[in-house]
Amino acid sequence: MSILIKNGCVVTASESYIADIYVEGQQIVAIGQKLEYGADKMIDATNKLVFPGGIDPHVHLDMPFMGTHSSDDYETGTRAALHGGTTMVIDFILQTQGDTLHNALKTWQKKSKGKAIGDYSYHMAVTDFNDDVAKEVVQMIEDEGISSFKTFMAYKGALMIDDGQMVELMKVVKEYGGVVTVHATNGDMIDSLIAENKAEGNLSPLYHYLSQPEITEAEASGRFTDMLYYTDCPGYIVHMTCEGALNAVRRVTRRNQKVFVETCMQYLMLDASLYEKDFEGAKWVMSPPLREKKDQIALWSGINQGLIQVVGTDHCPFMWKQKKMGENDFSKIPNGHPGIEHRMELLFSEGVHKGRISLPKYVEVTSTNAAKIFGMYPRKGTIAIGSDADLVVFDPNKEHVISAKTHHMNCDYSAYEGHKAKGKTETVLLRGEIAIENGECKLKPGHGQFIRRNKTSKTVI
Ligand code: URP
Ligand code: ZN
Ligand code: ZN
Repeated sequence: MSILIKNGCVVTASESYIADIYVEGQQIVAIGQKLEYGADKMIDATNKLVFPGGIDPHVHLDMPFMGTHSSDDYETGTRAALHGGTTMVIDFILQTQGDTLHNALKTWQKKSKGKAIGDYSYHMAVTDFNDDVAKEVVQMIEDEGISSFKTFMAYKGALMIDDGQMVELMKVVKEYGGVVTVHATNGDMIDSLIAENKAEGNLSPLYHYLSQPEITEAEASGRFTDMLYYTDCPGYIVHMTCEGALNAVRRVTRRNQKVFVETCMQYLMLDASLYEKDFEGAKWVMSPPLREKKDQIALWSGINQGLIQVVGTDHCPFMWKQKKMGENDFSKIPNGHPGIEHRMELLFSEGVHKGRISLPKYVEVTSTNAAKIFGMYPRKGTIAIGSDADLVVFDPNKEHVISAKTHHMNCDYSAYEGHKAKGKTETVLLRGEIAIENGECKLKPGHGQFIRRNKTSKTVI
């Protein structure tokens, strides 16, 4: 199959220019003006933007969590992602405490194989570190193409590791060329605030927010950067929400330290006033919680200052019935929200249209930087000869309204219901095949490939 995309405005992390792109098989073969290839299919991209396929490095598909499972599996989740222009996701494998990383890998391979429509990889969440797991970490990097290791500084008793385990993990990961990623909040502080609120009968979703104040994230982010400094390991803080945590990263630049940071679309757009809607606030119960307007200002600045390199989603949807498990107790509301589908469109609307970020910055944070940090560049994350033909033809001026009635995620509510966005994903190619056209997904379950990733370092960006 060959495809010729004519006259689009090609946008990469470094430039934008009008050009044609010729795709043959799975890859980009030529980029130039007035290309005259006899292709099987022609796409007229006049007045459209052409981006590299989005990479969302923070999703939870079919994940066992808080007594239930996230409601999107690999089929529905990657299909929804493609509709929005995200051609690849990185999901999280969770090691069961007391069990091996290899067993966890097998469990996630069963969830994804034959089901994924878009491309995917896994971060390995290390929830129980010891000498045997250290050997497995090396095998993950060398043999399995999994070079990122997720840690939790919260969710004690289920996912959290202590600082001693963290430091030992960092030493191995540094030696073999990986990156340690972290959910950086102070789990002990949060647990005692939750207990205090429950004892006082404060049980509504608002108290989820009030049990995770900014300082719990700022403190843990600072502690994580100190452990990285001590071990010299590459590190990546996921889902950063607030000014205090960003300042912890800003501070360590003064000792010449570099730490990668991700924020998510919801933290740039939504704020904690949503928790005042009684139980409806459960729609936005996630960890860390939504913050304040001043934090949004800090995060947008952090993106422009290069302190934040990636915008993901932390997509972890639950049906309303599942959220209701915590109707009488906020601590039983499954944490997470649906976001995988609209990241590219919302960031374009809120970021590019509103003049907060440039077009190349948009491509950097939605695709290129994730590909670099997680060892996939230049196969993924750019528009270049020889790269996978993961491409998004995007109409920058098309307006649309986000709704659960029209989205493709397996979730019966939208976190952005009724929101008007400007800019819409129109056509999506995944490895040279049409994935999305005229609002329809053309690919079948099983089309998505596991992408083996290379080693990484602090100097990839
Ligand atoms: O609320 C969230 N974020 N749920 C998913 C698990 C995590 O902490 O990322
Ligand atoms: Zn988290
Ligand atoms: Zn997450």
